Amino acid sequence: MPGVFTKLGSCGLIHKLFLVSAVLGVFIYVATLSKISSLGSLNISNAFCNPFNNNIDIDFHGGVGADIRSTIDSMLQKIREEIDISTHHRKDASSQLSGSSLRYYNFLNEILKLMESVQASLVMDDVESNADEGVPPPANQSNSSDTPPADATGLFDQLAEMDNLSVEEIRKYVDIKPNRLGRQNFMGANGTFTSIGHACFSMRDDLEEYMDYNPGQICNDDWKLSHKLMAHGCDPLPRRRCFALAPQQYSRPYPINESMWKLPDDRNVRWSQYKCKNFDCLAAMETRRGFFKCADCFNLTSHESPRWITPVLVDPETNKTTDFMIAEVLAIKPGEIRIGLDFSIGTGSFAARMREHNVTIVSATVNLGAPFNEMIALRGLVPLYLTINHRLPFYDNTLDMIHTTRFLDGWIDLVLLEFTLYDWDRVLRPGGLLWIDSFFCIEEDVGEYQGAFRMLGYKEHKWVVIPKVDKDANEVFFSAVLEKPPRPDRR
Ligand SMILES: *[C@@H]1O[C@H](CO)[C@@H](O)[C@H](O)[C@H]1NC(C)=O
Ligand SMILES: *[C@@H]1O[C@H](CO)[C@@H](O)[C@H](O)[C@H]1NC(C)=O
Ligand SMILES: *[C@@H]1O[C@H](CO)[C@@H](O)[C@H](O)[C@H]1NC(C)=O
Ligand SMILES: *[C@@H]1O[C@H](CO)[C@@H](O)[C@H](O)[C@H]1NC(C)=O
Ligand SMILES: *[C@@H]1O[C@H](CO)[C@@H](O)[C@H](O)[C@H]1NC(C)=O
Ligand SMILES: *[C@@H]1O[C@H](CO)[C@@H](O)[C@H](O)[C@H]1NC(C)=O
Ligand SMILES: *[C@@H]1O[C@H](CO)[C@@H](O)[C@H](O)[C@H]1NC(C)=O
Ligand SMILES: *[C@@H]1O[C@H](CO)[C@@H](O)[C@H](O)[C@H]1NC(C)=O
Ligand SMILES: *[C@@H]1O[C@H](CO)[C@@H](O)[C@H](O)[C@H]1NC(C)=O
Repeated sequence: MPGVFTKLGSCGLIHKLFLVSAVLGVFIYVATLSKISSLGSLNISNAFCNPFNNNIDIDFHGGVGADIRSTIDSMLQKIREEIDISTHHRKDASSQLSGSSLRYYNFLNEILKLMESVQASLVMDDVESNADEGVPPPANQSNSSDTPPADATGLFDQLAEMDNLSVEEIRKYVDIKPNRLGRQNFMGANGTFTSIGHACFSMRDDLEEYMDYNPGQICNDDWKLSHKLMAHGCDPLPRRRCFALAPQQYSRPYPINESMWKLPDDRNVRWSQYKCKNFDCLAAMETRRGFFKCADCFNLTSHESPRWITPVLVDPETNKTTDFMIAEVLAIKPGEIRIGLDFSIGTGSFAARMREHNVTIVSATVNLGAPFNEMIALRGLVPLYLTINHRLPFYDNTLDMIHTTRFLDGWIDLVLLEFTLYDWDRVLRPGGLLWIDSFFCIEEDVGEYQGAFRMLGYKEHKWVVIPKVDKDANEVFFSAVLEKPPRPDRR
């Protein structure tokens, strides 16, 4: 393998295309290496390891060899030179670039970024593991938005700690599982590559406690622990080979013509981790248990049933409301809205109302202090147990609508909001609707948040801001219905 590097490294002027494919090859090779090294000395399945064993001499703990590093450095230099040359070309000739050379130029830039990120991670790895072996300090990393955040610095260190995890189940879980008969799937994978959220390693004790169980037995009553792990970024959680606890006496759910607007049978929920021990407690005005923003969500009759049918919050001064009615929103695209996602904290009432309009809505929520997922399911709707950390489990350009309320609010970091909105944009189909429902924040922030929504470049069907009067604080409500535009292909 080092032979390949030397050969590439010593090539003088090579044909553009050859350079590009060589770079790509090296990149894939390096990516594979860093994947292996990041798994530490886990006993990676033999099928995966053996083909490499004869050729590669890597000390998994000592970082990646200096020859590879210097090869990467020289590859980077060559790519930068190539970019310089093609930039000069651009200035020399006309300002017009033909389609193919523009593509070539963009491609080089993309490869450069990828290589730089590999270099950055190798450098990190070295610093972590060779701290006292006199390795020179890392080259200055650019301070652009492309560099990994400080949080990622410890990642390789954390992955190396995998070695140290005493609980056998976690190693078994992340081991690559070879396909039976050595078959390769159509993506070229010979096995299944299981992953866990990298932040799991920053919570080693909790992770080990979570994975400390007897396979084949009933799992511990540790719902709170799993939620704590997820809330701190250990998401996806590893799966476990134990049986999840279930309610002692699960009674038949109500038939669908009754379940939608009736509090479910208390016996169908495990209450052990909640303050309330039944649905009446959750619905009662006086207890106000559960998530504070959704303390009324279990009161189906008086709180939930009027929502999206009659306006509740009306600004007395202007008569404006941020409560849009389902009928008026669906009228924007008659007959076109059939499937969607509600990313909110709630009990599924939005999906229940949309069902009356023959629209299928999946309700994504976490169990913040109350059994929201069970409630949604017992009403006969589809709950999706998902944190904000998750890339949505839908493919690009598929959903007709995304609705959100009581979730993305004035607490959210702007960069997180952008990542979230781009992901929502990804799954919305062209012409799909994004319904921001009663987003609230302090008045000073509303401009910045609205800027984030406007950044999407959507058509604005509705856009209303009213003062929030229930508290003294200087807060506003903001609602909008926005339409995703068609997007041209990249040229
Ligand atoms: C690692 O895998 C090899 C080959 O299957 C096996 O002989 C060895 O016992 C394994 N080591 C551990 C620590 O599981
Ligand atoms: C993966 O599958 C391909 C084709 O079936 C085979 O040539 C290759 O050796 C396999 N690799 C491993 C690591 O099993
Ligand atoms: C690294 O960056 C700092 C600040 O941007 C600069 O002062 C320093 O000269 C740089 N060092 C090298 C080796 O480029
Ligand atoms: C990197 O960027 C951050 C914020 O963008 C800034 O505070 C910091 O001074 C920058 N560091 C260097 C070395 O330029
Ligand atoms: C492994 O664990 C021991 C003791 O728990 C600790 O001293 C050591 O630093 C750990 N090693 C790594 C790589 O985390
Ligand atoms: C629900 O449907 C069942 C039959 O499918 C019927 O027996 C029952 O009376 C219905 N309940 C209500 C409240 O309409
Ligand atoms: C729902 O709220 C209304 C009014 O706030 C109250 O009268 C009713 O008892 C509540 N429902 C339940 C089940 O507690
Ligand atoms: C608000 O609506 C009420 C009742 O519909 C009406 O009496 C009042 O004049 C309206 N106020 C404004 C500012 O439009
Ligand atoms: C929903 O579909 C049913 C059956 O196709 C139909 O009878 C009903 O009118 C539809 N409702 C709406 C609001 O479109």
